Amino acid sequence: MNETIILGVSSSISLYKACEIVRAFQKREFQVRVIMTPNAGKLISPRLFQALTGHEVFLDLFADSSVERIAHIDLARQASLFLVAPATANVIGKFASGVADEFLSTFFLAASCPVVIAPAMHENMYLHPQTQENMARLRSRGIRFVLPGKGQLACGDEGWGRLAQPEAIVAVGLEALSRSTSLTGKRILVTAGPTRESVDPVRYFTNRSSGKMGYALAEEAASRGAEVTLVSGPVSLPVPFRGGLVRNVETAAEMEAAVFDLSAKADIIIMAAAVADFRPARTEANKIKKAGADLELTLTRTTDILAELGRRKSSRILVGFAAETEALEDNARAKLQDKNLDMVVANDVSQPDTGFGSDSNRVFVALRDGKSFQTEKMSKREVSSVIFNEIEGIIERKKNSPDP
Ligand code: CTP
Repeated sequence: MNETIILGVSSSISLYKACEIVRAFQKREFQVRVIMTPNAGKLISPRLFQALTGHEVFLDLFADSSVERIAHIDLARQASLFLVAPATANVIGKFASGVADEFLSTFFLAASCPVVIAPAMHENMYLHPQTQENMARLRSRGIRFVLPGKGQLACGDEGWGRLAQPEAIVAVGLEALSRSTSLTGKRILVTAGPTRESVDPVRYFTNRSSGKMGYALAEEAASRGAEVTLVSGPVSLPVPFRGGLVRNVETAAEMEAAVFDLSAKADIIIMAAAVADFRPARTEANKIKKAGADLELTLTRTTDILAELGRRKSSRILVGFAAETEALEDNARAKLQDKNLDMVVANDVSQPDTGFGSDSNRVFVALRDGKSFQTEKMSKREVSSVIFNEIEGIIERKKNSPDP
């Protein structure tokens, strides 16, 4: 059966452009079902979209009198993508706060598919801090926006707030949909970000990890259909998927506890987190005062989570990272052996354009079977794709020759 796109249409003059969006998806053999807000239904007859899609248009939450089906839940099950174009400030505000008082906003809460929103409104409304805050909130939950452009607005004013071009909206929609099912049924645990080890209530040790690589891996895994659990150190990144589990931790010990708690249910574990190797031997209850000239702190080793996972590996696929500043390939191969990994991904963190915090990466990958290669510099999402292609290869080989 063809995949179904749910197109939400709210009351902006630009809603006529939604017809082009319907057509563009139909051309690519998607089914399109339209939900209109009651106000959109006052601007234009739902019959227009009914004629275009060949289906009834959802507008009234209580229109369907049948007891067997609840329309918004039924529809949510079929949806591969929920695209709202145009989205008014009112709709965005309702989504951000969980108000569900008509079909469209109720559907938003019921849907678990990717969501793409294309706002359209007057510049003052668009730039209002409340609207921006609502959008940021939605973004932090993995919802994508196709930002409006600048130009003539419905009232004749010039400014930001014009609905993006239909082709741009369709492109983002297709990107949100661009996932495969190659990892469906696989449970993947990804760790990401740094850890923080407290010295006293004010100070802590941490490292330069931004979490971007781990988050990109989690996003890629989810887009391939995997059931993803992300254990994340403190980062400022939006949750990269919907429907998975995110466990936020702060210290190496908390990360260790979370990983061991969740590892039994994982088929694949990727340790992308930059876990502290040392923590202060004791955390002072009160702030350390600058009494003497120098201060000596004793640091003690944390558990090497990855090495421990390697010791209890069983049939699980284990992928480790290596952050190196010298002898990259040799150090990476040594980690592969020492930690009993299936794959190691090493990067040179001394390079400013690919190291910590950067959006791109260039990695050296080594597999247990001897294969190794160096990638070009590419985005962290692209690196994730390379890594998962290799993981899928490992899964395939394991199927053909399972471990004794
Ligand atoms: N790692 C871990 N637990 C730790 C430290 C690191 O699980 N306490 C994992 C990281 O998530 C990463 C891998 O080990 O996947 C490699 O970490 P890295 O810092 O590169 O090297 P180490 O193994 O700690 O060795 P060294 O510091 O000697 O380079």
